[in-house]
Amino acid sequence: MDPPSPLTPKAQNGRDEELKAYKEYEDIASTLPCELLGSFPIPKYQNFFYPNHLVSTTIAVQSTFQPRPSDIILATQPKSGTTWLKSIIFCILNRARFAFDDDHPLLHSSPHDLFPFLHTLYEDRTLPIELLASMPSPRLLATHNPLSSLPASVLDSGCRIVYLCRNPKDAFVSMWHYIDQTIPSTIKRPSIEELFEPFSKGIMAYGPLWDHVLEYWEESLRRPEKVMFLKYEDMMDNAGANVRKLADFLEMAFTEDEEKEGVVEEIVRFCSFEKMSTVKVNKEGKHGKDSCHTFCNSAFFRKGKVGDWKEHMSEEMARRLDDIVEKKLQGSGLTFQK
Ligand code: A3P
Repeated sequence: MDPPSPLTPKAQNGRDEELKAYKEYEDIASTLPCELLGSFPIPKYQNFFYPNHLVSTTIAVQSTFQPRPSDIILATQPKSGTTWLKSIIFCILNRARFAFDDDHPLLHSSPHDLFPFLHTLYEDRTLPIELLASMPSPRLLATHNPLSSLPASVLDSGCRIVYLCRNPKDAFVSMWHYIDQTIPSTIKRPSIEELFEPFSKGIMAYGPLWDHVLEYWEESLRRPEKVMFLKYEDMMDNAGANVRKLADFLEMAFTEDEEKEGVVEEIVRFCSFEKMSTVKVNKEGKHGKDSCHTFCNSAFFRKGKVGDWKEHMSEEMARRLDDIVEKKLQGSGLTFQK
């Protein structure tokens, strides 16, 4: 492998500034209160819990991200179908550009590379100001961060936010499996009971889940033309209808000709679990840049079913979680199936 090319003095200066800024973010992160999730410390920052390595990234995004009015931000609770919705939105926006054939980008790149998480762009202690500035509009950017943690300019910019959540019981079970797939083999796997206790207290990456969901839900009621709220279960129930709603929301409505040609059905089929989970890059490719947090893309594709929680959670656990969620969402108009 070639050695990295030396930075020019100007670039080196920029890099020094980035590292200095990051040092400040890391100093803030190091003072935060922490809970334990299994054997992992999980810090609390401004009322939400974050993966330890992503607190300084969150502060960096808060401090430096500059939204454009044309941005499309996909916000999700982890394990709610982010990968699926990334594929669908990418297809809706690029349907005139890429035919649904063997050359389609989604058959060669992970949805997470085509539609990156903001935190991935900020990884490796970088401030990707130039990279973000060079991205053509509309930029597709994803986040798991709560709405209140995003810079205020996101709401002011008038950009569109698509929010996706999932029945907390299925999201929890999916997370349990995901942790199993992605933590280093040297670390002990938490049992479902060990993970449930903190989860039920809101202690989970980007938790409390109910507060996360409520923030976006309330904003979607206030500004439905800018914030679209979706549930995984509704997408599963009628993906076509939701793909049409999404296209309308993104001001990319399907034409009569496209409807006749079956483009909506084509997108649904192309982005289905059955299709996407068999794509080589999704089966064998790697997610993440640095060696600490690298794992196989297949961790994003497990079963893709509604109600799988019944296979893993005890009745008592399910009842407890239902009660907690019901109380927390009371009066909001938002409900999840028991
Ligand atoms: P399960 O673990 O229940 O199978 P995220 O993308 O937010 O990390 O969510 C991952 C969950 O979405 C996993 O759920 C995964 O199997 C499911 N998923 C991934 N791709 C999907 C698709 N195309 N259609 C439906 N579900 C999908």
